[in-house]
Amino acid sequence: MEEEDIDDINSIEKLEDYDIGHKYLFRICLLGDAGVGKTSILTRFCDNTFKENYNNTIGVDFRLVTLKYKDIISKIHLWDTAGQERFRSLTLNYLHNSHGFLFIYDITNKDSFDNIVNWINLSFDNNKNSVINFLIGNKCDQNSSRKVEESEAQQFAKEKGLIYLETSAKSDENIQKLFFYCVYKLIKYYDKNDYTEEDNAQLNSSHTEEIKIQRPNQNKCGC
Ligand code: GTP
Ligand code: MG
Repeated sequence: MEEEDIDDINSIEKLEDYDIGHKYLFRICLLGDAGVGKTSILTRFCDNTFKENYNNTIGVDFRLVTLKYKDIISKIHLWDTAGQERFRSLTLNYLHNSHGFLFIYDITNKDSFDNIVNWINLSFDNNKNSVINFLIGNKCDQNSSRKVEESEAQQFAKEKGLIYLETSAKSDENIQKLFFYCVYKLIKYYDKNDYTEEDNAQLNSSHTEEIKIQRPNQNKCGC
């Protein structure tokens, strides 16, 4: 993160008002193996809570947040995908129109880091236009059990053109910074590229269909 960006990023506010008009609607997709902490990162950011127990995500979950940077209001669709292989075809639906990818691994689980390359390939094969992409080493509160060195991850991120950050959903380290930084970069990108009204309509196109299918197994038990 560059020095001059820090004050700007710190000035971003999360708004509770969901009905407020917005300039941008960004879609950010969280990807990575089962259990790395995707849902926990989102829950920490959206609700400021953390649960020790693990409930794997079924299909895809969705959260919406509103952020204000200077006088620019942005709505952010956050897609929380399932790491389990059996949901992979559903995940594909969310890749093609994301503006940003967060590739997440668990710093205590080397396999989850080694698999990041597969998540990257899957994402970039389906979306060549993602603007900002992060490599996230989560669970950094468990440094004593670390299996992936920061230097290795940093080198990999550099090779792949990703921004590298370590986070902890548990201790709330770098969680807000991650999302604010991501949105800040997106705003800078679209503002600099002088988006036209037409482009903006495309950028803001509705995703109600996708939202409807977010929980394919919901109520399947009939209870
Ligand atoms: P899937 O939905 O199956 O893809 O998994 P996920 O990536 O969403 O993982 P989830 O957020 O459900 O977290 C899995 C387990 O890791 C849970 O038991 C969490 O409590 C734990 N966990 C998540 N983030 C952290 C963290 O930053 N630190 C620690 N110590 N545990 C974490
Ligand atoms: Mg999950």
